[in-house]
Amino acid sequence: MHLNQQSVEELNKLVAPLNAQEIVNFFNQNWNEEIVFGTSLGAEDQVITHLIYNSEKKCQIFTLDTGRIFPETYNLLDSTVKKYKLQIHVYSPDSSELEAMVLNHGINLFYESVENRKLCCQIRKLNPLKRAIEGKNAWFTGLRRSQSITRTEMQKVEWDALNQSIKINPLIDWTEADVWNYIKTHKIPYNTLHDQGFPSIGCQPCTRAIIEGEDVRAGRWWWENPDTRECGLHKK
Ligand code: ADX
Ligand code: SF4
Repeated sequence: MHLNQQSVEELNKLVAPLNAQEIVNFFNQNWNEEIVFGTSLGAEDQVITHLIYNSEKKCQIFTLDTGRIFPETYNLLDSTVKKYKLQIHVYSPDSSELEAMVLNHGINLFYESVENRKLCCQIRKLNPLKRAIEGKNAWFTGLRRSQSITRTEMQKVEWDALNQSIKINPLIDWTEADVWNYIKTHKIPYNTLHDQGFPSIGCQPCTRAIIEGEDVRAGRWWWENPDTRECGLHKK
């Protein structure tokens, strides 16, 4: 099947009345396309892993290990794989690209300019993502509209022009409270950093805790302007 922007509109109509579990079931069970889920092990993604576990037919799951993630995230990766008895394919950056970048720009290049930061995200995240979704027609994400001003227009199904793929966001209209109610009700394992002021967790050098009243993504690339704070995984 050739998927494009028009398929996105049709799929959005189809999934409009469905809840998150039904969306996951629909794509895993009734849709004859290759689909995969990208998890950062964040709270939303842990919910989706649980929804996939509940689904009769399960898609593959991957995570992008940038090499700079928190020890707590590695521990959660390990405990999640064990709890749900599923595989999570861990993708690493290309070693020669990484070595050249560090040689030319330094290990902490991201603090020096937005350009450097984007280069690091490109090599540590975007290029491995390309490999992870190569040959697939769609990927699930844990995106929510209320996470950021850059995400307010997002739909349940989106066209990912960068990767020429469909992106499915089952939690797009969930609130942060919805996520936490679900996690507590179903006793889903979550990153211990969430209890220490980190609602949104990425790489260790690019994530700080937030203070009360701050936006949930205020701790991501906090030294940059809010409108540049996306790594490019979810560019429109
Ligand atoms: S980011 O673009 O700022 O890094 P965020 O952390 O909010 O994104 O995550 C949004 C969604 O992108 C996640 O729910 C997940 O589906 C996907 N994602 C983000 N980081 C990763 C990762 N390291 N590995 C796999 N998927 C990821
Ligand atoms: Fe590099 Fe920071 Fe992007 Fe991680 S979030 S890939 S460390 S710039």
